[in-house]
Amino acid sequence: MSNEQIDTAGPRLSVDEVKSLDNVDILELCETTRVAILAHEGFNWLTPPPEKTLESFWKGVFIIPERTLIIARMDGQIAGCCQLVQPPKNNEAGAFRGSIETFFLAPWARGHNLAKAMLQKAEDVAREKGCRTLECHMASDQQAAIAICEWIGMDRWGIKERYARINDVFVPGYYYSKNLD
Ligand SMILES: CC(C)(COP(=O)(O)OP(=O)(O)OC[C@H]1O[C@@H](n2cnc3c(N)ncnc32)[C@H](O)[C@@H]1OP(=O)(O)O)[C@@H](O)C(=O)NCCC(=O)NCCS
Repeated sequence: MSNEQIDTAGPRLSVDEVKSLDNVDILELCETTRVAILAHEGFNWLTPPPEKTLESFWKGVFIIPERTLIIARMDGQIAGCCQLVQPPKNNEAGAFRGSIETFFLAPWARGHNLAKAMLQKAEDVAREKGCRTLECHMASDQQAAIAICEWIGMDRWGIKERYARINDVFVPGYYYSKNLD
């Protein structure tokens, strides 16, 4: 497990690659997810699912070898996360890719560079795992996510007009990619 402390005069911040989470961590991650969903920024969920569904979702990450979970904490409490996801083993032709998923921070943890640190960590892990490209996509109105992907050197290569459908309205999505070699 890596343990990266971020220098700051404010709250205590850290970003770690994690291989497991205890029950308290899982509850914190579920609560943080619920807050993000209620703020309409819950990576595809529009309303919070039942507690057990959220718990199963996060526990499931650890049984899929192609998924690496990166957790951000503020003053010890889980504030958000992202996953680096590699293609399944049968996708030999696409094995060079690493994708960012479930990238979010609770609103109370934003503006402290935690998101940049998480994405930087994901890129470091992708390089360690031999990924040759790093990819990310988001709704076109997620300005902070767009700014961070561009900050890390990703290029926008595509726009999908029907990326999401929220309250009967289609929302476009942006697709970003960065070569790591
Ligand atoms: C994406 C997310 C994790 C970023 O976290 P954050 O703490 O808000 O990030 P920061 O405050 O460090 O902001 C990152 C950059 O975006 C910029 N930014 C933030 N809000 C912005 C806005 N509305 N318009 C333009 N730029 C904006 C900031 O200025 C900052 O750039 P800078 O460091 O050069 O000043 C967080 O906003 C989030 O959880 N959003 C909802 C979920 C989501 O969009 N996930 C991404 C899917 S890929």
